[in-house]
Amino acid sequence: MEGLKPAYEQAPCQIVIKYNKNNLNFEQSDSIFILCLKNKEIVAFLEVHNLSANINGKEILNDLCIGMDRGQVHAIMGPNGSGKSTLANVIMGHPKYSVTSGSILVDGENILELSTEERAKRGLFLGFQYPTEIPGVGYSHFLRNAYNILNKSLSGKQENREVFLTVKEFHEYLKKNLDNVGLQTTFLSRYLNEGFSGGEKKRSEVMQMLVLKPIIAILDEPDSGLDIDAIQAVAEAINILISTGAGILIITHYARILRYLSKLDKVHVMSKGQIIKSGGKELSEELEVKGYGWIGLSDDSSTQQSSKL
Ligand SMILES: Nc1ncnc2c1ncn2[C@@H]1O[C@H](COP(=O)(O)OP(=O)(O)OP(=O)(O)O)[C@@H](O)[C@H]1O
Ligand SMILES: [Mg+2]
Repeated sequence: MEGLKPAYEQAPCQIVIKYNKNNLNFEQSDSIFILCLKNKEIVAFLEVHNLSANINGKEILNDLCIGMDRGQVHAIMGPNGSGKSTLANVIMGHPKYSVTSGSILVDGENILELSTEERAKRGLFLGFQYPTEIPGVGYSHFLRNAYNILNKSLSGKQENREVFLTVKEFHEYLKKNLDNVGLQTTFLSRYLNEGFSGGEKKRSEVMQMLVLKPIIAILDEPDSGLDIDAIQAVAEAINILISTGAGILIITHYARILRYLSKLDKVHVMSKGQIIKSGGKELSEELEVKGYGWIGLSDDSSTQQSSKL
């Protein structure tokens, strides 16, 4: 453990970590800490190293580090405007963001130069905070194409990918998954997200995740706009994917959905484009009760506004 101290001092990531040398416990963010070391030892399926990114010249992500493995469930919480959706979009390669430094590794491969489609083929999935309506693209047609394309690259990496020989077989599979999120079969004959209510769009994002079976799914506020019963239904649908050994990175403002998840390995708090605190499930409960003030945070967007005045 002697080697840790110089490495800690060199760590470029601005995360506050209390390292207790006597009992060898990291009080916060141990996995993030290790990931931020230049000579990293561990290899998680998804690793984000010292990532900085901007949009239209405005820096949103600032030397951010996070990592998670297959089968893990991590939650990211944080004030409005702290950069949570930006992180999700940058991991998936949204072209409107510019990455200025750092790297994103999937299974050890730097994916920064890959298109969004190639990232999906590596096993990543993003459920959007604000799903877009795409008139003209049939819901079931879209899912069948996407499933088949992913099968070519993921079948060697995942044992649970079925091959559906007929359209009818695939429809039965879709119906089962619609049922899992409480959507009716009639959705299959509609265009993607067109005219879906806010809650239906959220259920639909989780249903797409279930159908496509990613290795790691990033879900950006899958609970926003859902009625009380739907939150539990969506959580149970997420649990189905967790039971297959997939990893989940869930962004949320509320502890409620996290309580229904079958496991929760880490809760991270994001502020001003960085992970500033990590802990277990109890951290999300503490945030629910106390808000962000007790860890020295207020609403990030209002902070940014007022600092300009
Ligand atoms: N096109 C843009 N031009 C300038 N700033 C932008 C642009 N797009 C996003 N931002 C800013 O980036 C910051 C981070 O936004 P982001 O959506 O990642 O926050 P968030 O943590 O997901 O917030 P919320 O909890 O409200 O969803 C915000 O201050 C937002 O206004
Ligand atoms: Mg967001």
